[in-house]
Amino acid sequence: MPYPGLKKDDRRRNDLQTALWQEIPRKLHYSLPLRQYGPDSENDCPTGGQDTLGEYTMPPDPLPSPLQQFVNTVTTALDEGREEARLLPRVGEAMKALVARDNWLDPACARPHPQYYQQYLLYLDPKARFSVVSFVWAPGQQTPIHDHTVWGCVGMLRGEEREQHYTVAADGIPRPLGEERRLRPGEAVFVSPTLGDIHTVSNAQADQVSISIHAYGGNIGTIQRHVFPPEGGAPKNFVSGYANAATPT
Ligand SMILES: [Fe+2]
Repeated sequence: MPYPGLKKDDRRRNDLQTALWQEIPRKLHYSLPLRQYGPDSENDCPTGGQDTLGEYTMPPDPLPSPLQQFVNTVTTALDEGREEARLLPRVGEAMKALVARDNWLDPACARPHPQYYQQYLLYLDPKARFSVVSFVWAPGQQTPIHDHTVWGCVGMLRGEEREQHYTVAADGIPRPLGEERRLRPGEAVFVSPTLGDIHTVSNAQADQVSISIHAYGGNIGTIQRHVFPPEGGAPKNFVSGYANAATPT
């Protein structure tokens, strides 16, 4: 038996994915304590310090077909090179195909939180070259001004988002860069340190949940990033984590 102790159903899983998801909870649990980045800590987490590092839910078995197709395309593209100018157009096209239909996202990864927007890990590349995350926004929720430090591609699955880019001058004060954009279902946009990496995102719908699918050039939930105070001053460090926490029994 390749993975002793797993149920019969588990053994049907793709070997690599199974091994990976068995490892993720342990690695993250031991590397980052719960609520380290909560609102009461010195770190300012855009998601408000959700319980990001508890017991992880397993991904659907197998991955939904559109997501598996996206993963295959990005994996192949990365195998062929990491140069953004060649990589991102391929990721963008694959993302548009992924969000062209809203019929595949596991409801467990589409649940809003009344206080904080949620980030559910949908897939992590075995080499951590990219991750795929669902962002779930309740009405009125928005990020602070933040960066990513790696490339990202955002596709709108459900509802609508607003996005505003910023530039940060020597005085540390973020100033809007360009016009606010609206992202509608089926559309995709990019962020990256080379294209523009500092922005805010909010739910554009006043009365319903919005959901976008994000791909990032790394394991985004574990990457140290920055929040930029609107009044200026030193950026604050944060690590977002993921929201795939099960209720403790
Ligand atoms: Fe962002």
